[in-house]
Amino acid sequence: MPANLCQQRPVADISDTASKVVTLLSKMTIEEKVGQMSQLPGDGGNVSNRLRKTIENGHVGSILNEVNLDTINELQQIAIQDSRLGIPLLIGRDVIHGFSTIFPIPLGQAATWSPDTVEQCANLAAIEASENGINWTFAPMIDISRDPRWGRIAESLGEDPFLCKSLATSMVRGFQGDELSMPNSIAACAKHFAGYGASEGGRDYNTTNIPEHELRNVYLPPFKAAVESGVATFMASFSDLNGVPATANNWLLTDVLRNEWCFTGPVVSDWEAVPQLVTHGISVDRCDAALQACTAGIDIEMASDCYFNHLIQLINDKFISISEVDRIVSRILTLKFNLGLFSNAFTPSTQKANVLNKTHLKVAKEAAIKSCVLLKNNEQILPISKGKINTLSVIGPLANDGYEQMGTWAFDGKASQSQTCLQAIKDYAGNAININYAVAMENSRSNHQQGFGQAIESAKNADIALMILGEEAILSGEAHCRANIDLPGAQEQLIEAIHKTGTPIVLVIMAGRPITLEKVIAKVDAILFAWHPGTMGGPAITDLLFGLVSPSGKLPVTFPRTVGQVPLYYAQKNSGRPPSQETFVDMDSIEVRAPQTSLGMTGTYLDTHFTPLFPFGYGLSYSQFSYTDIKLNKEVIAIGNAIEISVTVSNIGRYNADEVVQLYTRDLVASVTRPVRELKGYQRISLAPGKSQVVMFELHTDELAFHNRKMECKAEAGLFHVWIGGDSSATLTAEFRVIN
Ligand code: NOJ
Repeated sequence: MPANLCQQRPVADISDTASKVVTLLSKMTIEEKVGQMSQLPGDGGNVSNRLRKTIENGHVGSILNEVNLDTINELQQIAIQDSRLGIPLLIGRDVIHGFSTIFPIPLGQAATWSPDTVEQCANLAAIEASENGINWTFAPMIDISRDPRWGRIAESLGEDPFLCKSLATSMVRGFQGDELSMPNSIAACAKHFAGYGASEGGRDYNTTNIPEHELRNVYLPPFKAAVESGVATFMASFSDLNGVPATANNWLLTDVLRNEWCFTGPVVSDWEAVPQLVTHGISVDRCDAALQACTAGIDIEMASDCYFNHLIQLINDKFISISEVDRIVSRILTLKFNLGLFSNAFTPSTQKANVLNKTHLKVAKEAAIKSCVLLKNNEQILPISKGKINTLSVIGPLANDGYEQMGTWAFDGKASQSQTCLQAIKDYAGNAININYAVAMENSRSNHQQGFGQAIESAKNADIALMILGEEAILSGEAHCRANIDLPGAQEQLIEAIHKTGTPIVLVIMAGRPITLEKVIAKVDAILFAWHPGTMGGPAITDLLFGLVSPSGKLPVTFPRTVGQVPLYYAQKNSGRPPSQETFVDMDSIEVRAPQTSLGMTGTYLDTHFTPLFPFGYGLSYSQFSYTDIKLNKEVIAIGNAIEISVTVSNIGRYNADEVVQLYTRDLVASVTRPVRELKGYQRISLAPGKSQVVMFELHTDELAFHNRKMECKAEAGLFHVWIGGDSSATLTAEFRVIN
């Protein structure tokens, strides 16, 4: 890998902005420069004297977590009018899946497999946030997440680099618009760089050990795509990567991000991650932490004060050069110029017309509809036909809870503005169906069964028991990991109790992660997995349950049978002894004292199957689709070229429906082992019953490239298999050969 590709580029003309930055920089004291490198939390709707003085003195360049618009304007006013150089503030906030209008959690958005929907959600979130004075969001979160125990899987885009790359690009476009300077654009932040999703044991903040080829083939591509899509900023991960915490990781932040990928925006640390270098055991004290973080490539310290307290001395003592500090501060000032803050940093307080308006709610509902994944539908119990049932029993703590359906990272959404399932079902049913509601459990993790009796009675007297269960919002998200990912509390017992009534069960699950459902799946007739669907979850789920629209979400992450299978993801390596249906042996069928080699000697478990409960990409529809006629425009392609692969998809069912057509490949023999399947293309299409469509994919050999033993990213000659279908276990297949 050439040491510094970016320096080989022609030096850009000094633009207007660049010359303004140079001029401003020449007027700044060291203190003011270091101030720009510091980010502090707001005072929660107030401006304390301390914060006022800090801003007046130019000792802080950005504020996070202040959402009171009047206060934000006041802060900007202090920065612009009362500080010596009048430099406006960056105002950061975790606008992760909406601001006032809450869209499905990012994992749910990933289940839409719809880049347009994801872009729209980010765009509307940017509109609402910018009208509230925010100019920087700490999103998208693009950590590849293959461990459902990890609470932060909820805010991720799932397990797959290809899907994550495409949706990350859409999110960045949605937040930033065409120009950062447009009134409703906000700066995006690609986080958490890098490898955070691989935290050992799915426990937050834990160590990660990721070999470089895996890092480059799996974890880094979404970040590289974010750079290519013009993301304005990056955030370093809390985690330790191969022995060096990301916050002090020069290789990651400088060699890769700056020198290989030529990223020119600022990099912010995570919350107090700089002093945590001492806790990691890599810095002796906070001064050493500031030195290590700054020289590794952290431009802005979030929330703590190691930079402000120590960088000045470190610069004076020549541990850090002033020219390096100037480069860092230029990046921060350039962002402020690009955002148009020097022209206008104030947000009119009358401007909030767009918040939670009809368009936003409509998009939120459409996104929630597309995100719900139908996992099971026995004998087509769904959709529920309004004319065919008299009584519907709605059961469960998540049926009528506007707060919990918003999920994690929904700070600025209000429970009272959410529309719940119970409300929406009642509105839809009118007088045509009796709706009986039994909450059954105080909350999703309650172990008390006092409410079961009422729920059982309600189910006994109903045509269908609609159980709305899952995880309340606080059970996923940052620092909310679970070692057991079954339905929490007494939910399995509740399902068992309702099952015993003999009334068919439709189970809707709201959750921030895959849930292990093996113990309940046989007891229910249908399962609709709704993630945390956000403000419009109720109306979206109602439309799906009653067949106004067919489910079309597809899993962005594998659903294990049991937590012991984790990590379980579709793009596994084959190994030398791959498991198979033939070699799979259940523990109970082994004879006592059977010889060691009595089994198939392949990679299976004795006490569960090696396959997942639901594979990546899976999701049913009310209709059915057939895939036929896979065709390639050539069977041999030279590296540097593209091949066209097409398939005929037909709607052979009875409903108008969307389908997500997925293309997977396998590189059969390579210089390093390759996954058994990799997603290389997808398209969401809509088909009326009886209609067919030829879906065409163009696959360039660049998409087949991977990091080899020398860490060169290259496609290799050889045979490739390709599959197209409705999930990662697709069987319609063809092959092609790549030549040099
Ligand atoms: C810590 C989280 O890891 C990060 O994702 C978030 O943006 C910051 N806190 C700020 O809230």
